[in-house]
Amino acid sequence: MPLPSSVALYGLALAFGFVTGTTLPISEVNKRQERCVASTQTQEELASLLSKKATILGPTSVDWADVTERYMAQVQPTVCLSVRPGTEDDVAEIVRFANRLDVPFYTVSRGHALTESVGRFRGIEIDLRDLRAFEVNPNNVTAFFQGGAYSHEVIDGLWDQGFVTGTGGCECVSVIGPALGGGHGLQQGRHGLTMDMLVNLNVVLANGTAVQVNETSHPDLWWAMRGAGHNFGIVTSFESKIWPEDKSKTYLVKTYQFAGRSLEAVIDRVNEFQGLGTLDPSWLASFGLYIMNTTLSKTEATINWAFVFSGSPEEGHAVLKPFDDLGPLSVDVVNVPYRVVNEYVGGGMEGRLCEGNKTHVIGTANLQTYNKTSMRAIYDLYNERIRQHPRLGDTRVLVEGYSVEGVLSHRSEDSAYALRDEHILTYFDTRFDSMDDPLIPFATEWRDHTVALWYGGQPERRPTTYVNYAAGYESLEARYGHETWRLEKLRKLKRQYDPDNKFAWYNPIFPPA
Ligand SMILES: Cc1cc2nc3c(=O)[nH]c(=O)nc-3n(C[C@H](O)[C@H](O)[C@H](O)COP(=O)(O)OP(=O)(O)OC[C@H]3O[C@@H](n4cnc5c(N)ncnc54)[C@H](O)[C@@H]3O)c2cc1C
Ligand SMILES: *[C@@H]1O[C@H](CO)[C@@H](O)[C@H](O)[C@H]1NC(C)=O
Ligand SMILES: *[C@@H]1O[C@H](CO)[C@@H](O)[C@H](O)[C@H]1NC(C)=O
Ligand SMILES: *[C@@H]1O[C@H](CO)[C@@H](O)[C@H](O)[C@H]1NC(C)=O
Ligand SMILES: *[C@@H]1O[C@H](CO)[C@@H](O)[C@H](O)[C@H]1NC(C)=O
Ligand SMILES: *[C@@H]1O[C@H](CO)[C@@H](O)[C@H](O)[C@H]1NC(C)=O
Ligand SMILES: *[C@@H]1O[C@H](CO)[C@@H](O)[C@H](O)[C@H]1NC(C)=O
Repeated sequence: MPLPSSVALYGLALAFGFVTGTTLPISEVNKRQERCVASTQTQEELASLLSKKATILGPTSVDWADVTERYMAQVQPTVCLSVRPGTEDDVAEIVRFANRLDVPFYTVSRGHALTESVGRFRGIEIDLRDLRAFEVNPNNVTAFFQGGAYSHEVIDGLWDQGFVTGTGGCECVSVIGPALGGGHGLQQGRHGLTMDMLVNLNVVLANGTAVQVNETSHPDLWWAMRGAGHNFGIVTSFESKIWPEDKSKTYLVKTYQFAGRSLEAVIDRVNEFQGLGTLDPSWLASFGLYIMNTTLSKTEATINWAFVFSGSPEEGHAVLKPFDDLGPLSVDVVNVPYRVVNEYVGGGMEGRLCEGNKTHVIGTANLQTYNKTSMRAIYDLYNERIRQHPRLGDTRVLVEGYSVEGVLSHRSEDSAYALRDEHILTYFDTRFDSMDDPLIPFATEWRDHTVALWYGGQPERRPTTYVNYAAGYESLEARYGHETWRLEKLRKLKRQYDPDNKFAWYNPIFPPA
């Protein structure tokens, strides 16, 4: 993100990375990046190494803008060649080729990376969009997925066969991208994070060697790749658990809109409903949102709260009765199959959340419970900022309270994911059509203020950041864990498996020079 505060903090991280001795001087990195020439000769040489199904595209391709389009318009790596492997073996070939040329490489699955560090990449992109296959294994307990498989196709395809698995709530996002940093979603209350469902990863390492990574094969890498995976290898495919689900089953999605005056009562009831990580897993989600709905008010944000329930509608309505009693401005109720639940909470392929190529000012904080005082302060701040600039009424202040039983059923020390006791995810998002919008600094200050209020609501706890929601300015400790052994272990494994810091582009453990 082109945010002044981020840049300053990045500078610090950079200096720090340098001291550890695994990063290169700036001049050396620049030299490497300059070697990425999209010459015809380079393309032909690479093509001769790859399968017939592989595609190699350069900046002169007619559809280059579409090829390199991303969710975050302002997080644009400089791509000199975009290579689409046709087979998993191609991935290793591309890595070895890039290493021979001494040119950086970077993997893209669905292009939703949020963190600014991705924008620093310059080199050959490995685009997994043609490796999207997935298949239920004969045991019906696990399925095979390629690295480019994404939520929309996976949810639909598995549902057709009577199964569900872990994915995020937005259909445009890949399955493995989120999983490498955790993976939150509707199945986590019952079955854990998406990464908890993995049983095997087929990985290409920094030197182009393909290995299997699982509990018994490279167990140290198995530990690291579940939570900090983007820093360690390319997952060409993986095996992950699935669960049978009755195809005739429907889910209750109930969405309330409340006025600002109800805020304290809503927060009290949500806290009672969720408990401290004790929400029953039959509740798949409880999402809150502050947003302007100008049909209802031109000056005050509405407070939306959406609940997703897998039990009977009668039971669901009974539990939610305290919310009905608060006099909501509106209530929407649907009972729908699992495959379309995401659409009703905003994450469908055509939904607003999946819209790409916008500039976003984002910020996030993890919480355990909602602090009424800070939720009120954040709400009042929202209204004040909208009074100043009404056109920012599209800003989303989102809170996500999935159930967590499945997440807590795994031991924290068994993976690089350090945040199992964070029950609530938050997300601030103002979006712009242009990277040069004059209100970006204004939104950035608003973002910083909002995040500070979230953290201020739990003064006894250290700030932590879900790595996949990070903008990139947060501390490494917040992203990878405050316990000192965690970053020490990650750094040791980086030196072992990626001594030249080839995987340095996504919330890097060693920020590149
Ligand atoms: C609209 C939206 C909704 C989201 N919803 C959720 C959600 O519900 N739950 C959740 O947990 N997170 C969610 N996220 C955050 C999400 O986890 C990250 O944005 C994630 O990194 C996106 O993965 P991607 O494949 O789409 O993006 P990409 O940009 O393609 O990949 C993200 C990072 O992962 C690396 N990567 C991708 N594929 C591989 C691979 N096969 N092997 C190794 N590295 C790889 C890339 O190099 C990149 O650094 C959401 C993000 C957005 C923008
Ligand atoms: C992305 O948005 C920019 C700015 O609006 C626009 O110029 C560009 O064409 C868009 N790219 C694509 C692939 O639509
Ligand atoms: C797996 O599920 C399919 C239906 O989806 C069923 O036909 C098949 O018998 C099951 N196999 C096993 C081993 O249970
Ligand atoms: C783990 O990897 C080893 C070595 O490649 C392999 O033999 C084994 O089958 C893998 N385990 C799983 C669960 O895939
Ligand atoms: C705004 O409120 C109206 C009236 O309740 C509702 O129909 C509409 O869907 C709401 N808009 C959004 C974007 O939520
Ligand atoms: C709630 O937040 C306020 C600051 O907004 C803080 O002073 C207070 O201690 C917090 N309450 C709890 C229980 O942490
Ligand atoms: C690649 O790296 C791995 C992990 O460090 C190592 O075990 C392997 O021997 C290396 N392969 C080659 C060909 O150097």
